[in-house]
Amino acid sequence: MAIKALGYLVVTTAQPADWHRFLTQLVGAMPVADAADGASLYRIDARVFRFRIESGSQERLQAAGYEVDSAEALAALRQRIADAGRAVEDGTPEQAGARGVAAFFRTSDPAGNGLEFYHGDARTDAPFVSPIGVPGFVTGDMGLGHAVFCAPDFEASLRFYRDVVGFHETDMPRFHFNGGGPDDPGMGFAFLHADNGRHHSVALGEGPVPPSACVHIMLEYPSLLEVGKAHDRMKALGYDESATLGQHYNDETVGFYVRTPSGFDLEVGCDSLVIDPATWEVTRHEGISVWGHEWAWQKALRDAQDAQAAE
Ligand SMILES: [Fe+2]
Repeated sequence: MAIKALGYLVVTTAQPADWHRFLTQLVGAMPVADAADGASLYRIDARVFRFRIESGSQERLQAAGYEVDSAEALAALRQRIADAGRAVEDGTPEQAGARGVAAFFRTSDPAGNGLEFYHGDARTDAPFVSPIGVPGFVTGDMGLGHAVFCAPDFEASLRFYRDVVGFHETDMPRFHFNGGGPDDPGMGFAFLHADNGRHHSVALGEGPVPPSACVHIMLEYPSLLEVGKAHDRMKALGYDESATLGQHYNDETVGFYVRTPSGFDLEVGCDSLVIDPATWEVTRHEGISVWGHEWAWQKALRDAQDAQAAE
């Protein structure tokens, strides 16, 4: 019962051209030949793709694709998820081929967020060449990064990811965004790791699911230099900053958040903590950020208060 890593992301969008611009010109991902079914594919490393962009009428993270070790592990996971009452749908061989995997199935978490699980991954020998000169991303055994989902029924979602799927608790905080007084019960969060050194490959936040079915996804650059250059590109290209540069307490990532064309955020960072999953003891941080990370809504509130004070 083990999840290896986050392998790929599937996005449905009515704006594939904007996603192309976002991924190639801001992120530095490498476009590769479209899938046989017409989806656009982008690499950030040796995996055949990490982003699969499908054209559709919605704007949403269709699925986060997580890898398991073997056909047996995939079958066992499929059974556990079905036994837990979640619908599962096997991918066809053609669909698996288009994903560069041996086999996969689709399902969703208790909040309806899309997931795919697969085994048998595909790498390419063709070198990764970023169209804007990004030297690479921190991936390897730790996967492409992480995905964060909302959980209206926090305990149900936590049980699903931890007890049914097989993620492990890394940090289990409760965050108070409104001062922590009697009127502020706080929001539960769960940062869960797979069987690799990334601090979390999935995280859950207590609250309603947004239309995009995702809070944010995260990619890791190899240095602060690359984060800074990406921040410049965000401004030059006119994409919205969702949170300013900052550093998280729990995974120590230094980075910022930018709004993707589909409405959820992309966190780009560096210097993320690498844990030993075999010996990790669960933490309960009380704050999100050591410094920085002013959220767009906080800035809007402050600007409004400043404008009112100036009247
Ligand atoms: Fe994150």
